[in-house]
Amino acid sequence: MKQVKISIVKKLTLAFLSGLLLVSSLSAQTAMVNVPNRHKKSLNGNWQVILDPIGIGEWKQVWQEKKPQKKTDFVEYSFDGDPSLKVPGDFNSQLCELTWFEGVVWYKKQFNYSLQPGKRLFLHFGAVNYMADVYLNGEKIGSHEGGFTPFQFEMTDKVKSGNNTIIVKVNSNRQVNGLPGTGYDWFNYGGITRDVDLIETKETYIEDYFIQLKKGSLNRVLGWVQVDGNQPVQYIKVKIPELNLECKSRTDDKGRAKIEFSSHLKLWSPDSPKLYKVIVESQNDVVADSIGFRTIEVKGNQVLLNGKPIFLKAANIHEENPYKKARAHSLVDDRILLNAAKELGCNMVRLAHYPHNEDMIREAEKMGLMVWSELPVYQHIQFSDSLVPAKLERMLNEMVCRDKNRCGVIVWSLSNETYPGTPNRNEALIALTAKCRAIDPTRLICHVTNTQTYTNNTFNVWDPLAKYSDLIAINEYIGWYDPWQGKPSETKWQIAFPDKPVFISEFGGEAKFGNNSAPSDEAAYWTEAYQEKIYTDQTAMFATIPNLCGVCPWILFDYRSLGRMNQVYQNGYNRKGLLSENGEKKKAWYILHEYYKKK
Ligand code: GCU
Repeated sequence: MKQVKISIVKKLTLAFLSGLLLVSSLSAQTAMVNVPNRHKKSLNGNWQVILDPIGIGEWKQVWQEKKPQKKTDFVEYSFDGDPSLKVPGDFNSQLCELTWFEGVVWYKKQFNYSLQPGKRLFLHFGAVNYMADVYLNGEKIGSHEGGFTPFQFEMTDKVKSGNNTIIVKVNSNRQVNGLPGTGYDWFNYGGITRDVDLIETKETYIEDYFIQLKKGSLNRVLGWVQVDGNQPVQYIKVKIPELNLECKSRTDDKGRAKIEFSSHLKLWSPDSPKLYKVIVESQNDVVADSIGFRTIEVKGNQVLLNGKPIFLKAANIHEENPYKKARAHSLVDDRILLNAAKELGCNMVRLAHYPHNEDMIREAEKMGLMVWSELPVYQHIQFSDSLVPAKLERMLNEMVCRDKNRCGVIVWSLSNETYPGTPNRNEALIALTAKCRAIDPTRLICHVTNTQTYTNNTFNVWDPLAKYSDLIAINEYIGWYDPWQGKPSETKWQIAFPDKPVFISEFGGEAKFGNNSAPSDEAAYWTEAYQEKIYTDQTAMFATIPNLCGVCPWILFDYRSLGRMNQVYQNGYNRKGLLSENGEKKKAWYILHEYYKKK
């Protein structure tokens, strides 16, 4: 009997372990860097879809695309017929029956390919919200979790010459142990929300590189190049033609080469967003990029850009095109948001609360906007769930990997409004901070807090995570969620770690554009005047904040959020925008515009 039990346990353990192996071998790879400048074929456009609100497609195995074999056969699913959906794009805004849908949609795309010997092929997704299971010609090639970061699968040995079919199961259901978790104050746009590309590379190709100024140096570049393939040892050159510069190096047997050189660089800054054409060459591959150089550091209680103090005039932005009421994904969408930030007088954007599309970051950098990039580690994360630490690390890698050569990015924000009392929260986020510093020692790292009290006109910030942040980033809603406790200009501050720079990462209140007639001194009427007063008081209060290095209103545009259910004023919108969802300027906009002009 004992013998039997042991063998069952053994079998189960083996099954579990092989399951684990299968799962890990089917995980997506972290995507190669600089996808916009690769040799690629776009799979954007119309994709056929099957809507699966009850999630039965898994049981029917729709990826097999069974066809009737004999006259009496039939198959109760098919991608033929309507509807279809555009990729990239969220599905909620494309079909009215999907407006509030959170669940499974199956996508299908066919493509022709002929891969020449000596070449490799990757299937690259800019982002799929939230889970993606990917099948090629009926075979599962992998899965990915996380709605805002890129991933890829190698298809070199799997792609057929001629016609191929990709099927993706997209599941936008909220996950209890997901990043974000189940509760968040933005619209859950599901679908294949960013570009899909086939990327062809050389057998040994330049997979990744990190080329930025060494921390604290205004002329020394320190980084590395990583090649991947069966010839890992390669000569490497990094060239900047405009500077007549050529840096030579050699990879080790793991394919990594150190890059180090000095030059008189024209530094990138908001006033002069200089980018250089940088060419990275291996023996058999080459890739070009536009890279800028700047330093960002905290010295004492100040933030220094290129060694000089800078005040961060920022705006919070969600990745939503307000006019289309859809997830922003194109350059046109991105420019609507970034131009509005510029017009307000910003020199920085906080891209809340998840990594935005790559074009958004590249475009911001070109426009001279510094970027705050953030993980969707928002409020109610299940830090003690055994799977969460690995998800955090993976998402961090995906975010940093894609944008680490963008000098515009100055802050990696690793969390927003998580709570010190949540089991394992502090341990998990302290460990994540260390990992982030290890993979990118050049940028500021920060955790946004609202762990605070406000009594007797004294604002007390005590989050233990502040110790691990380069900036103390505070979300405070005095005048909206917290009524004023005294004169704004007499506010007092008690901040743990009082020597660090302080950034007000959120402040504001709600107003419906054009609502000017109701009592203007009561919050419950959502008037522009009430919001305007909050901004007047806040800008007076900013002068009381020790070591203030910048401010960031919540938020630039009104945005969709289903928890906002006041049917008179909100109608499914968070109305803290300085601009309405139609782009109209509210009174508060002018207050902040003036403040930024003077700063
Ligand atoms: C939070 C949060 C935002 C949110 C805002 C609000 O602090 O970080 O995502 O939307 O407050 O209440 O409007």
